[in-house]
Amino acid sequence: MILEYEGYQFMGAVSGQDGLAAIQRERPDAVLLDIKMPGMDGMEVLRKLHALDESLPIIMISGHGSTATTVDAIKSGAVDYFEKPLSTERVIVTLRNVLKQSELSAENRDLKLAMESRYEIVGQSPALRSVLESVQRASPTNATVLLLGESGVGKELVARTIHRNSPRSGQRFVQVNCAAIPEELIESELFGHEKGSFTGATEKQVGKFEQADRGTIFLDEVGDMSQKTQAKVLRVLQEQEVERLGSARTIKVDVRVIAATNKNLEEAIERGEFREDLYFRLNVIPIIVPPLRERREDIPRLVQHFAKRTAEEHNLKPKRFESSALEALSRYRWRGNIRELRNAVERLMIMTPADAVRVEDLPADMRNSESSPVRMPIPAAAATAPESAAANAVPKSDGQQPAGAGTLREFKDAAERAYLVQKLRENNWNISKTAEIIDTPRSNLYKKLEQYGIKQEVDG
Ligand SMILES: Nc1ncnc2c1ncn2[C@@H]1O[C@H](COP(=O)(O)OP(=O)(O)OP(=O)(O)O)[C@@H](O)[C@H]1O
Ligand SMILES: [Mg+2]
Repeated sequence: MILEYEGYQFMGAVSGQDGLAAIQRERPDAVLLDIKMPGMDGMEVLRKLHALDESLPIIMISGHGSTATTVDAIKSGAVDYFEKPLSTERVIVTLRNVLKQSELSAENRDLKLAMESRYEIVGQSPALRSVLESVQRASPTNATVLLLGESGVGKELVARTIHRNSPRSGQRFVQVNCAAIPEELIESELFGHEKGSFTGATEKQVGKFEQADRGTIFLDEVGDMSQKTQAKVLRVLQEQEVERLGSARTIKVDVRVIAATNKNLEEAIERGEFREDLYFRLNVIPIIVPPLRERREDIPRLVQHFAKRTAEEHNLKPKRFESSALEALSRYRWRGNIRELRNAVERLMIMTPADAVRVEDLPADMRNSESSPVRMPIPAAAATAPESAAANAVPKSDGQQPAGAGTLREFKDAAERAYLVQKLRENNWNISKTAEIIDTPRSNLYKKLEQYGIKQEVDG
């Protein structure tokens, strides 16, 4: 009567067995369970129910103020208990709290699932699979991981996946974008500061390394740190301790480091912009995340993944991508990699009125793109393939290059120059077209032409 008066639907059962059957049939939101019953007693029903569905809230009704039994009941998974005689007030308040709590738990479970799908790594291409194998091997360890790859290929996603699969997953994942923090603030961001340690330090701040204690710190865009910061970071990695600015106290930290960059750190070292000792500290387990053009097989799956996510996020009806559209998207040259693909899919999902996305719905450049596998020249391979563009350059350059390329730098330049000449020839010296085919901005190509003194050949 209490429950029905409050607007709840109520079902009764006269024994443990009947109760179990009814619960499995009717899936109630909560169960009130007496302890003393004929046949199967309440404690046994409780254990059985708890084994069937851990999330079902069960409130025990205990007879004679027997504390021992109620403690047992709570241990076996009951969320609360009433003592007879039942007080109307207490039943209503408890039930309301219990239902609220279980609603929150359900919401939490859904959110977790949604988060997992947000950070799911989609794709099965050989190139991606080898990344995932490295992730699997690195995750259970404390080893420093260096993620390399172009912009938008999924480095952050990989970093989060490593953390999630590590023994540190219960602790924090702290991300620091080294490129986004102004030089004069980065130290206090990373290491923290005491109140009053410099003008503007009106409050004490705990640094990112301290925040990540026992967890993982993700140093993103690590190639963009100043020399000074590099030296400090190196010290933390060596000593595993930090000092807040304005404090003489050192604080021990236990952090796992994952770093990422889209820069070529070895070249930065050659130019004297990146410390070699820091590079060796970071480069314990390098993982190269390949660009989308090296794993086109993954594109249809990624399109479907992003289509589903967009539909969920924007409350849209799910849409199908026709195979002709998927083919065109697979051929397109994705300069911005997966991030660009995701944006394109999102746009198509929102802007296409019909239930299916057809090839006609794609923007013109995506519709008409033809696949042209762009390979970077690999000087090492060039040496064994005399016809290749790079090999031409080294011994018999047009007099513009040193005949014998002595240093790595000279060799690379010579190879790059020859590659460009070759590609320009193939495209009748059409600069725009060449730039597009080799996947570089036109302005960059012009710069290279000037740098290498490349001029159009006039021949038949
Ligand atoms: N394999 C994948 N499966 C599903 N989504 C992916 C995958 N790879 C990347 N993404 C998504 O693409 C976007 C870009 O990825 P992410 O931010 O990890 O790239 P990044 O390499 O860190 O880029 P940047 O260098 O620009 O910071 C994100 O929205 C990410 O969730
Ligand atoms: Mg990133």
